[in-house]
Amino acid sequence: MGGEKAKKIVQFQVEYEGRQHLITTFPNEYRNLMVLIYDKLFLDEFGECRGMGRCGTCLVKVNNHLELNAYDRNEEATINKLGMRTECVRLSCQILADEKLDGQSFTILEQS
Ligand code: FES
Repeated sequence: MGGEKAKKIVQFQVEYEGRQHLITTFPNEYRNLMVLIYDKLFLDEFGECRGMGRCGTCLVKVNNHLELNAYDRNEEATINKLGMRTECVRLSCQILADEKLDGQSFTILEQS
């Protein structure tokens, strides 16, 4: 009985300062990956522009190279400005916190 579908769980790894963190959430429980990481890991100075795609403090390396759903707000210009342009570097505030995060692995990048 029941009839109600079980809510799908999303789990992925985040590496920060050499430590691995397993993050568990539900699809679209958070607005984007930056807000999710900020809420789970309590990182100071992470995501300073709150998702406008301008500050570059939410940079992550996407380790699995899987396609992720994205916003496209200022991301390319900000990454270029930081000199971090490679295919696997993204602003986490521009990545949707949906089911495509499941099984992913990210490394939080420090800015110099
Ligand atoms: S939070 Fe500022 S660029 Fe992502």
